[in-house]
Amino acid sequence: MKKRYPSAVLLTAALMLAPSVQAGNAVDELLARYQAEGAQTTDAVRGEHLWKTPQGERSCQTCHGKDLTRPGSHQRTGKAIKPMAPSVNPERLMQTRKIEKWFLRNCKWTFGRECSAQEKADILVFLKKQ
Ligand code: HEC
Repeated sequence: MKKRYPSAVLLTAALMLAPSVQAGNAVDELLARYQAEGAQTTDAVRGEHLWKTPQGERSCQTCHGKDLTRPGSHQRTGKAIKPMAPSVNPERLMQTRKIEKWFLRNCKWTFGRECSAQEKADILVFLKKQ
């Protein structure tokens, strides 16, 4: 006898598969999360400003470089960092866990504090366009 799956099961399966096949999904998921945490309308220009403006002696460009389509270089270890622009590096901005982990670490290192939900949302929409 043929087994039939209720449509709810199929829908759940489709939703579980979606993040791995749909580019931009991790970004959308995080933007929704940041909004729930209080972020208002996102602004890529504000994100770009945050990315480029040094706080003390550091900016996000210090390691990721001025041209996001080219590799960066870790200021402390000198290790190469793959380009940040998703247009040349399709691995970028695909995993919510990875993005959150590095936002936490890099905001602390660069700004000396954690980034707010608004700041992370603005930086994400800026990076996504690169
Ligand atoms: C001290 C060097 C350094 C600085 C400064 C730095 N980063 Fe990074 N960043 C890294 C490294 C190393 C990785 C992980 C390796 C990789 O993904 O290539 C990374 C990865 C990331 C990722 C993960 C992207 C993905 O999906 O692959 C994000 C987002 C990020 N950084 C944002 C920032 C932001 C925002 C700033 C400025 C507040 C910043 N970084 C400043 C070194 C740095």
